[in-house]
Amino acid sequence: MTMVCLSDFEAYAKKYLPKMAWDFFAAGADDCSTRDENILAYKRIHFRPRMLRDVSMMDIRTKLLGTEISFPVGIAPTGFHQLAWPDGEKSTARAAKAMNTCYIVSTYSTCTLEEISAAAPGGLRWFQLYIHRNRAVSQQLVQQAEALGFQGLVLTADLPYTGKRRDDVRNGFRLPPHMKLKNIEDAFEVCKISPLDPSVTWNDIYWLRSLTHLPIIIKGILTKEDAELAVRHGVQGIIVSNHGGRQLDGGPATIDALVEVVEAVQDRVEVYLDGGIRKGSDVLKALSLGAKCVFIGRPALWGLTYKGEEGLQDVLRILQDEFRLSIALAGCANVSEIGRHLVQFSKL
Ligand code: FNR
Repeated sequence: MTMVCLSDFEAYAKKYLPKMAWDFFAAGADDCSTRDENILAYKRIHFRPRMLRDVSMMDIRTKLLGTEISFPVGIAPTGFHQLAWPDGEKSTARAAKAMNTCYIVSTYSTCTLEEISAAAPGGLRWFQLYIHRNRAVSQQLVQQAEALGFQGLVLTADLPYTGKRRDDVRNGFRLPPHMKLKNIEDAFEVCKISPLDPSVTWNDIYWLRSLTHLPIIIKGILTKEDAELAVRHGVQGIIVSNHGGRQLDGGPATIDALVEVVEAVQDRVEVYLDGGIRKGSDVLKALSLGAKCVFIGRPALWGLTYKGEEGLQDVLRILQDEFRLSIALAGCANVSEIGRHLVQFSKL
């Protein structure tokens, strides 16, 4: 099978993953309107490409908080990589390093942070945190990530409770017995209810700040009001995200929310986006509307399912090639030439 685009990996994963794992990866909340909208919204945005602009020398590198990456696509935090591939997050870390991009490691990993770090020493990694009711567990994880050389702390803000994903309820989704949430195993066993703390507020950013020197990036922002609060609370980055449509159904596509967040932030901090990125031209649309970088969730899981580390590299390489081609065809030779002038919203 020749893998040409990311949908080919999706079709492969759908065919070969056990139903419970496929359904868990694919799930959106309720009717999945927001999940699907994340993808549909790109179709309403059209390019205003420029011609005859010498695109013989292309440079698609960019920087994330000062660190260079090979192109503006990183890996969003997703849980349970061993459901996709036996080596789980170790393979993800290797692929991200090989492609010189950023991997945001989930709290819900099936490998320990040490194992992940050892699998790809020196790779650019951020740690994604869900704050636990037992704050000592979160404190220990944050400090461990910093000690292991993670370079950013991503606080996920949109999951005080887990969204209602119907297929997971129908399937009675749970991890197979041989897989463990290795970084928070004990915390899970102690808590009979969800161990995540639904009482988290903006003030907890100050608490996180007191624990670590790492830059703090907040994930799950969709409005200008929250973007302003994020900047005022001293974060270094914002990820515009609706958790891949897995939380509140009926919210906006992230590419639509991006515009108001970017306008509110006015370059005071870096703004990123995840949700629905499936083609190089989607990346170009997000960058045109002000994202510094985007992250992929499900496509990374499809790549892992296909061939582990190699499969994820294939996914990233295809996106990289498509992105390079898209920006060249739009008349840009590097990412600094990308801007709002490149896109228009369809009136339909
Ligand atoms: C997620 N997401 C997520 N986010 C997070 O902060 N911590 C996590 O552990 C997870 N876990 C997770 C599992 C699965 C199976 C999915 C699909 C998603 C959300 C993720 O980081 C990201 O916001 C979306 O996946 C982006 O949308 P796409 O690229 O999947 O369309």
